[in-house]
Amino acid sequence: MPDILISEAIEGAAVDALRSRFHVLYLPDAWKSPQLLAEKVRDCRALIVRNQTPVTAQLMDAGPELLVIGRAGVGLDNVDVDYARQAGIVVAFTPDQNAISVAELAIGLMISLVRFIPAADRDTRAGNWNRRRFVGSELYGKTLGIVGAGKIGYLTARRARAFGMSVLACDPFLSPDNVLLADLQAELVTLEEVFARADIVSCHLPALPQTAGLLNSACFERMKPGSYFINTSRGKVVNEPDLLSALKSGRLAGVALDVRATEPPQLGELESMPNVILMPHIGAWTLEAQDRVTVAICEDITRVLEGRPAVSAVHQATPQRMTAR
Ligand code: MLT
Repeated sequence: MPDILISEAIEGAAVDALRSRFHVLYLPDAWKSPQLLAEKVRDCRALIVRNQTPVTAQLMDAGPELLVIGRAGVGLDNVDVDYARQAGIVVAFTPDQNAISVAELAIGLMISLVRFIPAADRDTRAGNWNRRRFVGSELYGKTLGIVGAGKIGYLTARRARAFGMSVLACDPFLSPDNVLLADLQAELVTLEEVFARADIVSCHLPALPQTAGLLNSACFERMKPGSYFINTSRGKVVNEPDLLSALKSGRLAGVALDVRATEPPQLGELESMPNVILMPHIGAWTLEAQDRVTVAICEDITRVLEGRPAVSAVHQATPQRMTAR
């Protein structure tokens, strides 16, 4: 009888170590079929997912033995954490382990946008040598607006400071005397102000009911003409048609998106625009981050299955349910 179902691609030495202690059912494509998930989770005590498995109330009900959900990543939008809490199931996650990788991608996208790196590459491969067509801008002296100044937003801003940028931050959970803001010499401003004053806005918001579609025309229309927008957090926080309009009107000079409202997205107008950089939600996909994430989640699953509290649990760190096993 399996102990642990892994329903997405999660591999490495830590998973092998898990296999040496528990019976692991590794079905990396199971996330595509709710029916298969429900069938395979039935006898399992743990379920490990990334962001593609919908961990719904129905799925948790289909696993009466479930003690712990391991979310290998930081975003919890695919896990019904309220239902897990009610059901007494631990939700373990990895809040910090991929933050550096996402911050580095945000910086990479920033430079790619202002120096036209993907467009210049495409043009040069086509046999051209268009130096004057690709006159970019420096980051030095520009203002970065961070929307959502949690760990990833902070690390992005810190790297931007090294380029000589100044930082505006918008985050309802921070107070103006926050030490991290002081470290960044950042000014805490409203959402309206961050869009009105920044040259580049980088979004680091979680997907919550309160943030769904929060970044819309009201924000983009405030931006300075020729500014840039980057999103490496969650696609659902952005109203994509409004973003497209801001690009078409020229208010935005360029946009870089690692995340989309629907993943994978339908091909549309954004895909055909030269000043848009699109990535397949790979902010956390570095060897180092994946290694850290996998080690941390396997460690927490082991702890819970062996009767110890999880290190990084969303609410309760030990299961509060009676199971038959
Ligand atoms: C995260 O939430 O950790 C990243 O976006 C990557 C992922 O969703 O797995």
